[in-house]
Amino acid sequence: MSDELAGKRIVLGITGGVAAYKAAELARLLGKAGAQVDVVMTAAATRFVAPLTFQALTGRPVFTSLWDVPQDSPLPQPPLRAPRLAMHSQSAAAARSMLRETPPLPRKGQGERGESQRDFHGSGMAHIDLTRGADAVIVAPATADFIAKLVHGLADDLLATLCLAKDCPLLVAPAMNCQMWEHPATVRNMAQLRADGVSVLGPASGAQACGEVGAGRMLEPAELFDALHASFQPKLLAGKRVLLTAGPTFEALDPVRGLTNSSSGRMGFALAQACVEVGAEVTVVAGPVSLPTPTGVTRIDVTGALEMREAVKSALAGGLDVPPTRQKSALASGLDVPPTRQKSALAGRHIFIAVAAVADYRPAAPAAHKIKKGAQTLTLELVANPDILAEVAARPDAPFCVGFAAESQNLAEYAEGKRRAKKLPLVVGNLVQDGLGGDANVVTLFDAAGAHPVPPGDKLTIARAIVRHIAEMLHAQN
Ligand code: PMT
Repeated sequence: MSDELAGKRIVLGITGGVAAYKAAELARLLGKAGAQVDVVMTAAATRFVAPLTFQALTGRPVFTSLWDVPQDSPLPQPPLRAPRLAMHSQSAAAARSMLRETPPLPRKGQGERGESQRDFHGSGMAHIDLTRGADAVIVAPATADFIAKLVHGLADDLLATLCLAKDCPLLVAPAMNCQMWEHPATVRNMAQLRADGVSVLGPASGAQACGEVGAGRMLEPAELFDALHASFQPKLLAGKRVLLTAGPTFEALDPVRGLTNSSSGRMGFALAQACVEVGAEVTVVAGPVSLPTPTGVTRIDVTGALEMREAVKSALAGGLDVPPTRQKSALASGLDVPPTRQKSALAGRHIFIAVAAVADYRPAAPAAHKIKKGAQTLTLELVANPDILAEVAARPDAPFCVGFAAESQNLAEYAEGKRRAKKLPLVVGNLVQDGLGGDANVVTLFDAAGAHPVPPGDKLTIARAIVRHIAEMLHAQN
């Protein structure tokens, strides 16, 4: 699922908060994605979760003290996947002995990463060696105390020292009581941390371990994983605002029935995530789907095509004139953005991607009450829905418009036909038997230069390929 994390070296710092248990799942997700994870725990963190848990999950020794590595024992470069069972049963002494027997870590600046660096001899100091050659340090959870340490450059334990000594990006996932989070001291500290170039992930709002409710919950492991993954993507759409439609529409026949289709919203949500990963500010107008909102995406839920059209028009006009309760914003729930409507920030759009399977027709006159069973036949009168994409593409101030074409046959002919008819720079063609509903898809991109098949894959991988193509087209335009 996540090719970019394969082979990456991640230092996972864990400080003393209840959310420390969630760091175990983060370590597992990172390991599953092929990353090499070195866990560093503060003394307080070890009161919540035993280091052995992380040793078992990562297959690597866990570091808890500045004095973990003897002066004459440079840190190792073990295989990416150390044998887990062997490590599971190791004592600290045995782990140290393994450190001595394995080759050392590469030092940054001594050539490209890879085999050629394997001759690096570590300093024997964990706070230096752990981050040399590391791709990122993520501290999750980061307590108020640890954040204050970071802000003031204190170096009184291994993790704090390592954060000072690192030469790679630092991400922190705050976790604390809501009063602590809102305390002016913490607010000042967070502002300083951001000014120092640290990426702050979250926190989210909700029920807290202490029983109170408010902002301060650590983001979920999957959200942290996504954020870390996103941090490695080239920021191809930095500064761009993207609006997408996704999922089906539901056209009511009466209060309990309606016309819809089996679009799951997965392709649209994958594209929303892929756009966020490359630095875009993303809003998705979603028909009725039951998917979680990708981290960092602002979501507007709608039901029918007319409502979707209004939400799109409103977003393009420079605001989200939709009741705030209908917006589900992962940003608002934590990713460093206050829970406001951000009207000015979201004004206008650079890119519009119409992934939604909008119903072409809707009942002409939906019944106010449930239609009762009666005659053997029932005739429905349908009227055409507006074509949202065609309307947007026809605007004088049209953003870069990307359409989708879902066909059951003659894909190239129909997709290219739609591209020309709606005067779109790009259409993504897919067969419904390949892409409707499931996790995978097979798509071909149609633009003025011709047809560009994309290798089959899961929808997120395909979404990333589509986003790269969009970025290339935009780049070529400028
Ligand atoms: O949601 P999933 O289960 O992941 O499935 C993904 C998908 C198959 C739905 C998706 O990949 C896809 O193909 N979406 C477009 C489906 C569709 O309605 O295609 P279309 O050929 O009918 O429409 C052409 C384009 O016009 C589409 O970009 C559509 O969003 C847009 N449109 C169509 C009708 C309408 N009234 N308004 C529109 O904006």
